[in-house]
Amino acid sequence: MSAPNIETIVSLAKRRGFVFPSSEIYGGLGSAWDYGPLGVELCNNVKRAWWRWMVYERDDMEGLDSSIILNRAVWKYSGHEETFSDPLVDCRECNARLRADKLGIPAAAEGGDIAALIRDKAVKCPNCGATNLTEPRPFNLMFRTQLGAASTEDDPSALAYLRPETAQGIFINFHLVQQTMRRKVPFGIAQIGKSFRNEVTPGNFIFRTREFEQMEMEYFVRPGEDEQVHQEWIDNCFNWYASLGLSRDNLRLYEQPKEELAHYAKRTVDIHYRFFPERAEEEKHWDELMGIANRTDFDLRAHSKNPLNEEGKRVNPDSTEDLSYFDEARKERYYPYVIEPAAGVNRSVLAFLMDAYSERTNDKGETRVILKLHPELAPIKVAVLPLAKNKPEIVGMAKAIKRSLQPVVRAVYDDTGGIGKLYARQDEIGTPFCVTVDHQSLEDEAVTVRDRDTWEQERVKVADLQQHLQTRLIK
Ligand code: GAP
Repeated sequence: MSAPNIETIVSLAKRRGFVFPSSEIYGGLGSAWDYGPLGVELCNNVKRAWWRWMVYERDDMEGLDSSIILNRAVWKYSGHEETFSDPLVDCRECNARLRADKLGIPAAAEGGDIAALIRDKAVKCPNCGATNLTEPRPFNLMFRTQLGAASTEDDPSALAYLRPETAQGIFINFHLVQQTMRRKVPFGIAQIGKSFRNEVTPGNFIFRTREFEQMEMEYFVRPGEDEQVHQEWIDNCFNWYASLGLSRDNLRLYEQPKEELAHYAKRTVDIHYRFFPERAEEEKHWDELMGIANRTDFDLRAHSKNPLNEEGKRVNPDSTEDLSYFDEARKERYYPYVIEPAAGVNRSVLAFLMDAYSERTNDKGETRVILKLHPELAPIKVAVLPLAKNKPEIVGMAKAIKRSLQPVVRAVYDDTGGIGKLYARQDEIGTPFCVTVDHQSLEDEAVTVRDRDTWEQERVKVADLQQHLQTRLIK
């Protein structure tokens, strides 16, 4: 079972301290969300799992943390200033701002003449049903800002952008990483960090927001070896999500058709997740979880000082570096091709929450929510619960057990309800194990360990507890 819709997760996330609507005491801010005590743990666990898998478990990877605000030239030569835009359409009747490519116009017509269809009143506003729409115009998604205290709003020399992807920070540091770490192609550079896009239609909870976090890796390969490596990364990424608990039935690969490809891409395959299972049409269940692109040598060339245009002039007169690579073994120089697995932290969190959601009826006929998160992702790994909170010996023993576990796992102590309520609360937030200290524990130095998924209980000696839990937490 997984969540029947995103709304179920929105409600659970607020009720249980995962995600709150941002700025709520001032009426909120559209599509901005704050991650609460459990949400921040879940996000950190997703990022930690990705970094361990992507960087630590490989021999060909380095990490990076580049600036969010980069020299404006980066966005000029990457093509973002010119092309990173969505086609914007306004409804003259209800003033809705819409993306022309999300109006449900068949893909064949999208590349063609949406404007003509709009003029012919053949396109309806999804908000009010009117056919009185403006023609599409490009809306650049990059957030603009000004650098420095003295700058004015229209001073072009002060103009800067918040990055819309972490990738460019990697390309401009390609040589520095390669040389300082004495790397040979093929190798990759991974980065996790915030990105910003002034989305025309953000929404669906944390699926599409204006501020979000990305986990991106740029893998540099010799031209000609790119296609095979691309396919390997597509398979790797799909398997990574499945290894952390996402059901394969809720995942699919989507080959982007030519007309959808970004300006830099030769081929892109997205991993889709079934974010919208409630929709009647199966095809509309799916949306992008991550993309794996073959960016060719577009970016390294674009940021290099050497390439010349047809007139013999430098394509990039502002760069001071040539980002080509000399392959010592082959005695050849080339611009490496780049394979880019690019995932969103927030979309991954949403998919993990939806997939983990399940319900179970207890013997009193009550329906309980169980969040079957993979143990590596669970915000809290162990909850230590005293059976009687008015018995100082039991409370003391439970607190001592919690303290003994906390250096190795994220453990909490809770005595704010009866044991049934405490179990239910931990199930709902995805805690894999509850440890209960009872009267007998004072005599036999043993506790009850309860499994979230099976509700089975076993008696474990306190001396063996840490080992017992650790082996079960590493799945
Ligand atoms: N460097 C390539 C790149 O940025 P992308 O497909 O635009 O590619 C990669 O973004 C991933 O970042 C997406 O698959 C998605 O998970 C996440 N993402 C993109 N825009 C987002 C937004 N507005 N809100 C939340 N996540 C977003």
